[in-house]
Amino acid sequence: MSHSRLHPLQVNSATGEPYLRLPSPHDNIIITPPRMSDVDAAVHNLNDRKIVDFLIGPPFPYLPSHAEVWLSNVKEASDAVLAELGRDDPGQSDNEPKVVGRCPVHALREVAEDGTETLIGDITIRRCDFAHEGAQRDMRREENEARPVGDPTIVWCIGDWLASSHHGRGIMSAALRTLMTEWAIPRMNVRVVRAEAYTENFASTRVFEKFGFVQERIADDVVTTNSGVTWHGVRLLWWKHS
Ligand SMILES: CC(C)(COP(=O)(O)OP(=O)(O)OC[C@H]1O[C@@H](n2cnc3c(N)ncnc32)[C@H](O)[C@@H]1OP(=O)(O)O)[C@@H](O)C(=O)NCCC(=O)NCCS
Repeated sequence: MSHSRLHPLQVNSATGEPYLRLPSPHDNIIITPPRMSDVDAAVHNLNDRKIVDFLIGPPFPYLPSHAEVWLSNVKEASDAVLAELGRDDPGQSDNEPKVVGRCPVHALREVAEDGTETLIGDITIRRCDFAHEGAQRDMRREENEARPVGDPTIVWCIGDWLASSHHGRGIMSAALRTLMTEWAIPRMNVRVVRAEAYTENFASTRVFEKFGFVQERIADDVVTTNSGVTWHGVRLLWWKHS
C-alpha cells in the first residue's frame, strides 16, 4: 500500500506494521495495532489492581482466554481499517486523505535499545455509548451510532490504561495528544469527545484536562468494578475542537 494513504502513520520497514511515535522525551514509545502475541502482557496488566480498580470493562480475574478474545476482536477491527485505507475508491486521490471510522493503532509499546518491544498500555477512541445519561442513554447512543463516518457531530470517547510501572511520567498525556492531533482529528474528523473518570481518578482527569477537556458535571452513579471497588460519582468531561 502507498504509505501516503496511511499518513501520518509511519511504517516499520521490517514488518510492514504501521505506527505512531510519541514525541521526545517519550520517543522510545510507539502506538501500533494490537498483536495476538500481546496475551501475556495484557493478562499481567489487566490483573494489576492499580489499573483495573479504575476500569469498568475487563473481567476480573483476567484470564488468557479473555485476552485472546479481546485481541482477536480488536485486531480484526484494526485490520479492517487498514484494508479500507488501502482500497481504491472512485474519485479518491492520495492527496485527499480518506476519513475513516477508527484508529488502527492503539497498543502502546516501549522499544528497548536492542529493539525489543514491550506492551505497556492501550489508548482507544470509539463512539460514545452515553453511559451515566439515565433515561436518555439509549436514544443518544442510537443517534450517535447512526451518524455516518466523518460526521463532525459524532460524540467520541476514550478508554486508556498504562502499566503501573510507568505511571506518572507523562506518557498517557503524550499518547492522548499524539492520538488526537495525528490521527483522530485529521483522519477521523473527530470534533467532540466525552470522557468519563471516577471522581477520585485524579490522574485520568488530569490527563484529559491537560488536553483541554472541561468538566461538565459529576453523575451521581455508584459503580462497582469487576475487581470489587465501589466508586461514588463519575466525572463527565468534554472536549470540543476549537
Ligand atoms: C490514568 C492513566 C492512564 C494516566 O497515565 P499516566 O501516564 O500515569 O498519566 P500522566 O503521567 O501523563 O499524567 C498524570 C497527571 O495526573 C496527575 N496526578 C496523578 N495522580 C494524582 C493525584 N492523586 N492527584 C492529583 N493529580 C494526580 C499527575 O501529576 C499528572 O499531572 P501533571 O502532569 O499536571 O503533573 C494511568 O494512571 C492508568 O493507567 N490508570 C489506571 C487506569 C485508568 O484509570 N484509566 C482511565 C480510566 S477513565
